[in-house]
Amino acid sequence: MISQLFATKTVAEIESAEASDAAGHSLKRTLSATALTMLGIGGIIGTGIFVLTGVAAAQYAGPALVLSFIIAAIGCAFAGLCYAEFAAMIPVSGSAYSYTYATLGEAVAWFIGWNLVLEYLFAVATVSVGWSGYVLRLLGEFGVHLPYALSHAPFMQATPGSFSVATSGAILNVPAVLIVAALATVCYIGIKQSSEFNTVIVTLKVAVVVLFIVLGMGFIQHANWHPFIPAPTGQPGQFGWSGVFTASGVIFFAYIGFDAISTTAQEAKNPQRDMPIAILSSLIICTLLYVAVSAVLTGMVSYKKLNVAAPLALALDAYPQLHWFSLPIDLGAIFGMTSVMLVMTIAQARIFYSMAQDGLLPPVFGRIHAKFSTPSTGTVITGVCAAAIGGLFPVDLLGELVSIGTLMAFITVCIGVLVLRYTRPDLERPFRVPAPWVTCLLGAGVCGFMVYKLPGSTWVRLVVWTVIGAVVYAFYGYHHSKLRRRVAEPAG
Ligand code: ALA
Repeated sequence: MISQLFATKTVAEIESAEASDAAGHSLKRTLSATALTMLGIGGIIGTGIFVLTGVAAAQYAGPALVLSFIIAAIGCAFAGLCYAEFAAMIPVSGSAYSYTYATLGEAVAWFIGWNLVLEYLFAVATVSVGWSGYVLRLLGEFGVHLPYALSHAPFMQATPGSFSVATSGAILNVPAVLIVAALATVCYIGIKQSSEFNTVIVTLKVAVVVLFIVLGMGFIQHANWHPFIPAPTGQPGQFGWSGVFTASGVIFFAYIGFDAISTTAQEAKNPQRDMPIAILSSLIICTLLYVAVSAVLTGMVSYKKLNVAAPLALALDAYPQLHWFSLPIDLGAIFGMTSVMLVMTIAQARIFYSMAQDGLLPPVFGRIHAKFSTPSTGTVITGVCAAAIGGLFPVDLLGELVSIGTLMAFITVCIGVLVLRYTRPDLERPFRVPAPWVTCLLGAGVCGFMVYKLPGSTWVRLVVWTVIGAVVYAFYGYHHSKLRRRVAEPAG
């Protein structure tokens, strides 16, 4: 019985199971390499660069935030290479979940699928609240003020970091609910439409980021970069090299999203060629932008002043000549968060689809729309859940769960690449990870280190989430798993 829990699917089985839903409808191949790269950039640049950079510089790394971004990028590059090998070899919607099914078996695949819900669904919810905050601020500047009751969540954490919840007096975070609903509608209508909408907003947000770099470069005060690594305060993680590493864990969030590209492998025109190109090029482009933004930002103002929610706007406010650019920066942040939510909604619906095809979730999660060729019900479920969480609950409780869920998926993908190299050396690999022992083990090691660096309370929440997942699996997935049934009752 235990062995059934770790039964693996063959690559051929995975590809045929995910090819179409029960009614024979399938996803449509419309995405080019450029569209896929844009989806990657759409998923990556958002809250991380527009919000978290300030806190990471002010509290942990100072101007050495540049190094933190490079360290986090190295960890992501190892994982990105592993994703690229898998996504070209097994181009299916289930991404890390399906790769794990082929390598480490059903129980681990379920754990990773359940963790991907943490990553994608909770990212949509968390970012929707950040988006709402930015929009309220922008409206406020134009003299428009929404009532508190309709722009905040009714529940809040009783004390920071605790599980206990108090009421805030508000009714619903309406802007958060509306943006999630609007984006889910776009995702429902079609992958091509979603990709075109994404390309427009990505172009705008990247233009804003590049302009910030170009304009800000002229206002760098070299004194702000000295000392480059501020002396440690004696508290673990506050400045010095320990602070640089702590900041890399915090801003890891900024890189999350490149992996979401792999969930659209079944909608790519030429996944074998384009998946590795899109995953790696979006990661490289965003790393260059992040390093440049953090260098310019910490050069424009002292890192000590950056402990704010809108650090780029604060840097601009320090120079009257740049005041005019504050509005475009706010819009860039809003665009950034919009595309992150869009890409994460796309990804979550496809993970649900794949899990339902395997029988681990009810068939309704795996329905493909006859006309739009999208996983429509999964998209609606994603939208409703993310809107409910973003509109009602204290998301600060959930934010770090997104990082831990993602890191768990990265670690298993890195290990999975190595496992499949030995269990199925014969499979055609259009893209191969260079020096697999080094890349895969370093990838798993660096991501493991970042997990270790996350606060203990995040671990506790992960355990709670895993227990809920185990109960769902025990009561549903275990009994409906198509693979387990087949293994338990061999044909004939
Ligand atoms: N990387 C995404 C962001 O920074 C999740 O918002």
